Amino acid sequence: MRLTILGGGGFRVPLVYGALLTDRGEGRVTEVVLHDLDPGRLQAVMRVLAEQAGAVADAPAVSATTDLDKALDGADFIFSAIRVGGLEGRAHDERVALAEGVLGQETVGAGGVAYGLRTVPVAAEIARRVAALAPDAWVINFTNPAGLVTEAMSRHLGDRVIGICDSPVGLGRRIAKTLGGNPREAWIDYVGLNHLGWVRALHIDGRDQLPRLLADPELLGSFEEGKLFGVDWLQSLGAIPNEYLHYYYFNREAVRSYQQADKVRGAFLHDQQARFYEELKRPDAPALTVWERTRAEREATYMSENRETAGAGERDADDLSGGYEKVALALMRAIARDERTTLILNVRNRGTLTALDSEAVIEVPCLVDANGAHPVAVAPLPDHATGLVCAVKAVEREVLAAAESGSRANAVKAFALHPLVDSVNVARKLVEGYTAVHPGLGYLR
Ligand code: G6P
Ligand code: MN
Repeated sequence: MRLTILGGGGFRVPLVYGALLTDRGEGRVTEVVLHDLDPGRLQAVMRVLAEQAGAVADAPAVSATTDLDKALDGADFIFSAIRVGGLEGRAHDERVALAEGVLGQETVGAGGVAYGLRTVPVAAEIARRVAALAPDAWVINFTNPAGLVTEAMSRHLGDRVIGICDSPVGLGRRIAKTLGGNPREAWIDYVGLNHLGWVRALHIDGRDQLPRLLADPELLGSFEEGKLFGVDWLQSLGAIPNEYLHYYYFNREAVRSYQQADKVRGAFLHDQQARFYEELKRPDAPALTVWERTRAEREATYMSENRETAGAGERDADDLSGGYEKVALALMRAIARDERTTLILNVRNRGTLTALDSEAVIEVPCLVDANGAHPVAVAPLPDHATGLVCAVKAVEREVLAAAESGSRANAVKAFALHPLVDSVNVARKLVEGYTAVHPGLGYLR
């Protein structure tokens, strides 16, 4: 079984490889092909993987290439984990928006729109290459903004592309543990778009235990989302939102604290990773140790501004271990070995949310087997959530239209319609600001 990783020189690739090393079963991945535009990054990551493989018998063989067609040829699974414009691009996404007084975040608000505008044309081109060279491969999309990018790719690959994110899994795990249940046995009623979903029920032993959590302020305030959103607001909502909804429900505070931060997140990660890749140029650098140290620092500082405005304190130790590599591995196993399982994934709607058309990619629990991911029926969303989901999906559709037509007017519309952008004038300025700093937006006319 061959797995190709696009963005193979990326910082989080060792997480994926680490997960593969734990898989000893029949039909596991035996060959990993890393693809990246930057040979230096590939080399650095190869060194970390070599140390991870160390004494592990039959560790998957790793090779690297900068040739996309070679990388795709013969792949059974393709992980797409690219970052168009790099972390420097992400820093610009944040800064341009914050300078206009609106949220600039990797996936949410104006920053997410800018990142989508840059990424969709590249992801669509990759999808076309996959359709031509590896039509039977399954593509697992990690690339953010994950829902939008998955939808762009699905226009070429249909249901053979599946988007993943670790945030719903982390949320479900925290709620189940708070309730004293086993996260693996819990049934989580979650739905929305990527980074825009709500847990409305969580069944343990055949009963919805969420009402018990919502009724108990002490329990409710004891885990990440309780601290972030506050007990009162969660009780009013009657649901537990994905942590990314903090950018919506506490937008003003989030914008202010990001404006005041020493560095935007993209710049922090950029500097941190530049040091990592630089250090690994030294032949005697302890690659795995340096990587682990860098990763720990990244995890500890995740959403720190949001937690600060909410007075939420440090992250729980359990939340520092990541998790999206586990979702990816579970998904790949379920498909490759027909090991039926349920995972929260980004797939086409097919009637799940009645307010959206069937092609719209949503985030929802899916039954996964050798035939792919099949969304399950969930309870309908309340009006306030449907409103947000529809508004943000309309923005995503404008991004897709802009990427296809190259029209600036579509790009302005995408920003202007976003619930976190409060003026058409601001939207126009955002397009000006972003096109000035991003070469990847040169296609907008
Ligand atoms: C969460 C999100 C991902 C995101 C990651 C890293 O896991 O679900 O989509 O890429 O956080 O965020 P960071 O700010 O560290 O890049
Ligand atoms: Mn995510």
